[in-house]
Amino acid sequence: MDKYIICGERRLTGTVDISGAKNAVVAILPATVLANGVCRIENIPNIADVDTALEILNSLGATVSRIDKHTVEIDSRTIVTQTVPHDLAKKMRASYYFIGALLGRFGKASVPMPGGCYFGVRPIDQHLKGFTALGAQVLPMKNGMISACADSLVGNSVYLDMVSVGATVNIMLAAVYAEGITVIENAAKEPHIVDLANFLNSMGADIRGAGTDVIKVRGVNRLYGTTYSIIPDQIEAGTYMAAAVATGGDVTVRNVIPKHLESITAKLQEMGAEIEEFDEEIRVSAGNFLRHCNVKTMPHPGFPTDMQPQIAVLLSMAEGTSIINEGVWENRYRYVDELRRMGAEIQVDGKLAVIQGVPHLTAAPVKAMDLRAGAAMVIAAMAAHGVTEIEDIQYIERGYEDLVEKLRGLGADIRRVSEDEPALQTAQ
Ligand code: EPU
Repeated sequence: MDKYIICGERRLTGTVDISGAKNAVVAILPATVLANGVCRIENIPNIADVDTALEILNSLGATVSRIDKHTVEIDSRTIVTQTVPHDLAKKMRASYYFIGALLGRFGKASVPMPGGCYFGVRPIDQHLKGFTALGAQVLPMKNGMISACADSLVGNSVYLDMVSVGATVNIMLAAVYAEGITVIENAAKEPHIVDLANFLNSMGADIRGAGTDVIKVRGVNRLYGTTYSIIPDQIEAGTYMAAAVATGGDVTVRNVIPKHLESITAKLQEMGAEIEEFDEEIRVSAGNFLRHCNVKTMPHPGFPTDMQPQIAVLLSMAEGTSIINEGVWENRYRYVDELRRMGAEIQVDGKLAVIQGVPHLTAAPVKAMDLRAGAAMVIAAMAAHGVTEIEDIQYIERGYEDLVEKLRGLGADIRRVSEDEPALQTAQ
């Protein structure tokens, strides 16, 4: 039960470096299963989900060498089993990418139903539909395991009923060795989809159209080892941008791809923030006050659902009434009760949240309900009057590298305490 203790009303200023993208690396690490050689992956974020993915690779028999905090080398030629253990799979949603990768490489995979953040039901029917279309047999679930096998995979056309990042990734992984051409229609266009395609192509795959809604995968006979650097994390960058605005600050977010941040930049500008874009950095300065606005989350290039809780914190402090329409997940408002404890006025009705801005938030003991909800609580606490304690921070640390150190570098008063340390003290 470690927690963060945050003393609010500190203006964030300075420069922060953004780490490699969580949602890219959790697809790229399983994809190394497909290589006949050593893959060197650089710019990996130092987060719990990476540790879990590497432990899974290790458990399969791959040779994993951690070169330094941000670099790993993986040799999948030593893999001896196609079954992912329960205790590791339950720690991370993306463990299901091992189904596509193992099926693609070995023609069989057994992977437990994955864990991860809870946003209502999280079906994987589109993933399974894709595997079946390629000729795999998906076995009825047994002991919580999803098992699929195929004598050979053959390219086919797969139309996704809804835009799904996970299904797009999994079908790409299964299709790289399939005979002929696989066409994924209504594919996800997120930056991490493009990053995965670039990684696979650097190994010798033939994938075209990533970043559009039609991806074509022409099967190849062999994939090789490669050296690849992960793209910067769009959502980590967006989270620091929101934190800068929430605290009335002036922050330069470095090592980013500004194009990936356009929808976030546009909303922050609409709320009154000033934003300057450079080649690989963005400077965010808060305006004199926050204006209300409406936000609808959508698949890329729309406003990302993974920034929804963080933007809700800003809207909670903006003048007037704002409406959020959650367009991706069934239930992504579980953090609202926590934010209400801090004085936010939010009414939720299905996919809509109506937010009546208040002049300021006040400290309260709160919980991180999931990864992004937790990040939102950190932002709220840094803006609020008083000292906030945030519990269940293990969710946050699944996806944000060195959050405490990075925020302290910007002037935040945040401290991480473990269970046995005294509770309420100011952070610095
Ligand atoms: N869906 C189905 N059937 C499927 C797959 C998805 O009905 O077979 C539905 C989902 O229930 C959801 C929608 O389609 O309503 C989109 O789901 P998607 O498959 O795109 O989500 P995901 O792949 O499980 C990834 C990210 C999430 C992010 C979503 C949406 C990873 C590891 N996770 O999840 O990231 O919210 O895409 O952009 O890439 C996070 O980083 O905090 C996070 C939760």
